[in-house]
Amino acid sequence: MLKGRNLVSPDDLSVEELYELMDLARDIIKSPDDYSNVCKNKILGTLFFEPSTRTRLSFESAMLRLGGQVIGFSEAASSSTAKGESLIDTIRTVGSYADILAMRNPKEGSAMLASEYTYVPLINAGDGGHYHPTQTLTDLLTIIENKGTFENLNIGLCGDLKFGRTVHSLLKTMNKFKGNKFYLISPDELRIPSYVMELTFEDGADNFVEVERLEEVIHDLDILYMTRVQKERFFNEADYVRLKDSYILGPEKMSMAKDDMIVLHPLPRVNEIEVAVDSDPRAKYFEQVKNGMYVRMALIMKLLGVCK
Ligand code: NCD
Repeated sequence: MLKGRNLVSPDDLSVEELYELMDLARDIIKSPDDYSNVCKNKILGTLFFEPSTRTRLSFESAMLRLGGQVIGFSEAASSSTAKGESLIDTIRTVGSYADILAMRNPKEGSAMLASEYTYVPLINAGDGGHYHPTQTLTDLLTIIENKGTFENLNIGLCGDLKFGRTVHSLLKTMNKFKGNKFYLISPDELRIPSYVMELTFEDGADNFVEVERLEEVIHDLDILYMTRVQKERFFNEADYVRLKDSYILGPEKMSMAKDDMIVLHPLPRVNEIEVAVDSDPRAKYFEQVKNGMYVRMALIMKLLGVCK
């Protein structure tokens, strides 16, 4: 039962619960009218201390499409955080008004801290360079819709694997399914942090490789997950400028990939996918955007314990 629980880390959901969420999201896609009133009289609070377009608006539209309502703020400067209020007091306050909370915060571990004090279910909408479990649900829905399975897939994760919270969450989650192999494609300085590797793979695991060149492995991939170099998490501008264009996916590289490989990206993209790739039928990142709303509808329903 997901009712009343928090979603802070990818480990908060079992494989069975992931399948349940996918089934519900797919039913919502099929018959949205059946769900248009299930959250009547419920309020979602969105606490965004960091910029966001898709995550916040997909949470808000998810709640509105379920017949509920939304309150919140989209930057720390417009909340009492600017006056020095602590995160814990803010969470307790908004949780007194809302039935469920979605929070994004630049500090790693902030969602875990908030979850210890919240009165209502709390969803981590990204905590610094750590985790982003609802982006993973979005990715999973797009994978199941296009590949029909979560198993036996060759998955390439490319770009900023160090600071990319979407990558950390997706890797940890997809490694719970049988037979997946991971190609971790990044410059040496942007490799997956060792703590994420240790928490994801068992000692001696042989289902991953770390490479620097996308061209070396692209022909093997079923899924290519591109990511943006996370400018806001760099300590100095020079490093960012040197690394930002490490990978640019264009038609030439796409011609080296399988006909049924899918390209995912959590967005926003900067330079890492050329606009020319958007019309390639294998580009699924705008489909992902829409799936993000449906899967958040399913998640809100499950955490609130409402049915159709
Ligand atoms: C991602 C994030 O915020 O981590 N965006 C998103 O939620 N769709 C990826 C990013 O900002 O690069």
